[in-house]
Amino acid sequence: MGKTYKIAVIAGDGTGPEVTAEAVKVLKVASDKYDFKLEFVEFDFGGERYMKTGETLPDSAIEEFRKFDTILLGAVGHPDVAPGILEKGILLKLRFELDQYINLRPVKLYPGVETPLRNKGPEEIDYVVIRENTGDQYTGAGGFTMKGTANEVAVQSAVYNRFQVDRCLKYAFEYARKYGKKARGKGDKNTLGLCGKTNVLTYIYGLWERAFHEMGKAEYPDINREYYHVDATCMWMVKNPEWFDVIVTGNMFGDIITDLGAITQGGMGIAAGGNINPEGISMFEPIGGSAPKYTGKGVINPLAAICAGQMMLETLGEQKASEAIEEAVKFVTAEKIETLQAGKMGYSTSEVGDLVAEKIVE
Ligand code: IPM
Ligand code: MN
Repeated sequence: MGKTYKIAVIAGDGTGPEVTAEAVKVLKVASDKYDFKLEFVEFDFGGERYMKTGETLPDSAIEEFRKFDTILLGAVGHPDVAPGILEKGILLKLRFELDQYINLRPVKLYPGVETPLRNKGPEEIDYVVIRENTGDQYTGAGGFTMKGTANEVAVQSAVYNRFQVDRCLKYAFEYARKYGKKARGKGDKNTLGLCGKTNVLTYIYGLWERAFHEMGKAEYPDINREYYHVDATCMWMVKNPEWFDVIVTGNMFGDIITDLGAITQGGMGIAAGGNINPEGISMFEPIGGSAPKYTGKGVINPLAAICAGQMMLETLGEQKASEAIEEAVKFVTAEKIETLQAGKMGYSTSEVGDLVAEKIVE
């Protein structure tokens, strides 16, 4: 018998529980076939609990999560809770308290999935964005003065220190070495591209750029280094996605460009991400929200949650099981479902979970 992993499951709001159940189903099958054990413990943090108790995520919960190997998150977001409360109180709190300083977001088009990009397919849309996950405008540094008056001033600063930048870059260079296009047999070099704005944000991205080249020269001479301004990155993500391999960027730009990336890979029904603390407890989530209008109907697509589970196994080191899930997902997108859209897949949520689970081979 292989290892045992303890997984905290926060299914969350809306369709979160439905899609998470399918991810858990698939993970259980994968663990049986690949000879390791998964122990799931469910937590009910989310909008419903907040409305009943006024509590988002108590500090005791953070301490509890530290006892787990990893966390699987469904979705947070409730139509009756003001925007920001659950996002900041649960999702961002977990990312910050557990110091999940990497947000790993593959942009990968699977066969059979429709993309809005003309003449582009799985061959072209196949890269990864590494978004720094703890700094930038997300730190909360700033405030108002003269609030409510005609002279009101609002400041929300982008904040980075060298330590944060260096640890993110180190992860990105290592990732490019291990999973870049050359490493995957798709070209003659592994490339890490820094996405920034050195022509205007000269302080923040000046720091990133210096750190990037210093580390690259000293420790990763085998990795090809590129630099792109964020605005140009957006154009190329649409026009020439095949130019990219591994992209590293700050938190705010990373938030924005990964939604663009997600839509080019088929949207929220498939895009998944990992909030990673390479030395600690990571958390995996479908990028999409809680989709309240589809709640309980069994029509939402669970593939993004299943892909989050797949990324989780990869990060835990269960490479073979992770690959088997990915292959099964590709089979389902290519051969089975009509579209990723809720209600139009030709199968129910749990049937799609079954299709993936059945296809997992040893
Ligand atoms: C994401 C989301 C979050 C973010 C929100 C919900 C706080 O957009 O995971 O990309 O801005 O990071
Ligand atoms: Mn976002």
